[in-house]
Amino acid sequence: MDDEIKVGIIGVGQVGKRHVERYQQLSGVEIVAVADIDQAEATRVAEINEVPHAFTDFRDLLALDEIRAVDVCLHNNLHAPVSIAAMEAGKHVFCEKPIAGSYYDALAMVETARRLGRKLGVQIRDLFSMPIKAAKRLIDEGYLGEIYYARSVGVRRRGRPYVDGYGTHSFVRKEIAGGGAIFDVGVYDIATMLYLMGASDVKTISRSDCALRAAIVQELGI
Ligand SMILES: NC(=O)c1ccc[n+]([C@@H]2O[C@H](COP(=O)([O-])OP(=O)(O)OC[C@H]3O[C@@H](n4cnc5c(N)ncnc54)[C@H](O)[C@@H]3O)[C@@H](O)[C@H]2O)c1
Repeated sequence: MDDEIKVGIIGVGQVGKRHVERYQQLSGVEIVAVADIDQAEATRVAEINEVPHAFTDFRDLLALDEIRAVDVCLHNNLHAPVSIAAMEAGKHVFCEKPIAGSYYDALAMVETARRLGRKLGVQIRDLFSMPIKAAKRLIDEGYLGEIYYARSVGVRRRGRPYVDGYGTHSFVRKEIAGGGAIFDVGVYDIATMLYLMGASDVKTISRSDCALRAAIVQELGI
């Protein structure tokens, strides 16, 4: 189909493979290429899903003109450099959560999207769930009055990737996937509260380390 949106998926670990399966169930989307530094896994995923191209260097995927959007399924500290490179290569980006490994990386991604006129989406699945849609509607229609305070509590004792016996060791490597519980699962709650409260202006923010990003950018040569 000519009007199909052609996408590339960068990173086919746990979540990347899940995304591949979901795209296969959608009409109007074709996965043209996958990229992963694990060559055997990239090739295996491409073969079983009939994806034409498998690359080990994501820049080869970005060089394909037919790809309009890429889905970044890499670890947190790789989100910014790879998403920015993708937008600079002319692609729209859908990126896994958290948007990035630091506020400054996230800001750079948003500024790049605005500057180049690209679409930048971040996976926060809760915003599309029925309970949140219902809550949003109740709030928007004024049933809860003025919302001036929100608090969210989350507990997770099982199901932590790698720690609880599934997933890869790299999921818990500080250099590429640091951030802890707030970055891993807290972002869902924070995003949901901001969304339900109408994305109020943020008054304060704590700085996190962006030196790591500089090291990664240097390592990747981008
Ligand atoms: N695992 C989950 O349940 C889950 C759920 C929601 C969101 N996420 C998010 O998805 C992202 C990835 O997590 P994951 O669990 O899939 O990790 P993972 O370790 O299973 O997969 C990461 C993949 O990226 C590849 N990779 C690493 N560096 C690369 C590079 N420079 N170029 C190309 N490929 C590279 C690895 O080889 C690996 O296959 C994280 O940001 C995480 O927050 C994970």
